[in-house]
Amino acid sequence: MEDRDDYDDVSMDRDLERYLRYLEKSVRELQVEKKSLMDELGQCRIELEKMLQPPLIEAVVIDVLPDGRVIVKSSTGPNLIVGVSSRVDPSGLRPGVSVALNNRGSEIVEILGTREDPLVTAMKLVEKPKTKYSDIGGLEEQIREIREVVELPLKNPELFRKLGIEPPKGVLLYGPPGVGKTLLARAVAGETNATFIRLVASELAQKFIGEGARIVREVFALARKNAPSIVLIDEIDAIAAKRIDIGTSGEREIHRTLTQLLAELDGFDPLDNVKIIATTNRIDILDPAILRPGRFDRIIYIPLPDKRARKEIFRVHTRRLNIKGEIDLDMLASITEGASGADIKAICTEAGYIAIRAGRDYITLEDLVEAAKKIMSKKGSGISGVVDVETPPTAQNKQAAYQHI
Ligand SMILES: Nc1ncnc2c1ncn2[C@@H]1O[C@H](COP(=O)(O)OP(=O)(O)OP(=O)(O)O)[C@@H](O)[C@H]1O
Ligand SMILES: [Mg+2]
Repeated sequence: MEDRDDYDDVSMDRDLERYLRYLEKSVRELQVEKKSLMDELGQCRIELEKMLQPPLIEAVVIDVLPDGRVIVKSSTGPNLIVGVSSRVDPSGLRPGVSVALNNRGSEIVEILGTREDPLVTAMKLVEKPKTKYSDIGGLEEQIREIREVVELPLKNPELFRKLGIEPPKGVLLYGPPGVGKTLLARAVAGETNATFIRLVASELAQKFIGEGARIVREVFALARKNAPSIVLIDEIDAIAAKRIDIGTSGEREIHRTLTQLLAELDGFDPLDNVKIIATTNRIDILDPAILRPGRFDRIIYIPLPDKRARKEIFRVHTRRLNIKGEIDLDMLASITEGASGADIKAICTEAGYIAIRAGRDYITLEDLVEAAKKIMSKKGSGISGVVDVETPPTAQNKQAAYQHI
């Protein structure tokens, strides 16, 4: 009997031991699971905290006051006078630096550093324009002149240093609409190995208060950083009209943009490898300040094409057309007296439509003649509804105005 009990005891011990081991293993497993759940909880807490945090406000430092407070222009609108958090190094606060304000907008909590405006960065054409000099008809003299002023100093600054002369900083192209001013500027950029930045002045003029001037500043900084570069300011009259009547805040704003532009023109060394090309069809309303020597030193007039030039422009634009038969370029040039390059381009496009309407996939001389008649008669009546022709009825008067400048 005793034996039996002994046996039972031993087996119970063994069972208990096994059970204990089993429990120990479970505890270990649960501990591991607990740890992973705690980790997860921690992550969730961090996420939650981030979600509950109000957003910071972006602002740009305008000035640092003697008492250490800072005037900033907040992205929400007004200029604010704010304190600086003790975590921020005040020596990094300079005008123009971008900072983050706390959510109440009362304190600078972080310096974001100077950053390029995405607007400005977008303006930099990483892809150079594909325009070539051979895409321009009849402007040989103007091409020669602009190459001398823009290309030569960029390619061979040494020559200018040796001669002791200062190459011009900028060129102004002016003339009636649609004669190829923008085209010529793009071709210079396309043929030179320079960074090309295009600024459309009318867009600048629409910017918020202070923005226009800032963008001008940033564009020039970008141009200098990526030198050699060409800055094209298209339709400069939008910001450089005579500063006569500075009444509304919009006009004051444009004035500030212009002042900044003049400061940039004066500010950089002409051998800085930044060249500016501006275009306008209203040189008569430009502020004389912009035309002062040392700013746009070369002013190149681009006239309406004469007969020879029109023939060349027809040659350029008919090159890509699928034409059947002979094309009499001389004849086309002679029936398009007064047409601009843009008109000639429109004539070629219109000829294509005439061919389409006739169910053909090629263009004939007759199509071109018919298109020319159509475009020229519209031009005469002052209507300019075809393609991208932009010829206001006053073109002739303006033409007269350019002549005496
Ligand atoms: N001399 C030219 N040779 C070839 N094409 C031309 C010429 N002039 C104008 N064109 C054609 O007309 C289009 C418009 O020209 P462009 O934009 O250069 O005119 P613009 O002088 O800048 O006019 P605006 O003063 O209205 O800005 C060009 O894209 C081009 O196709
Ligand atoms: Mg233009």
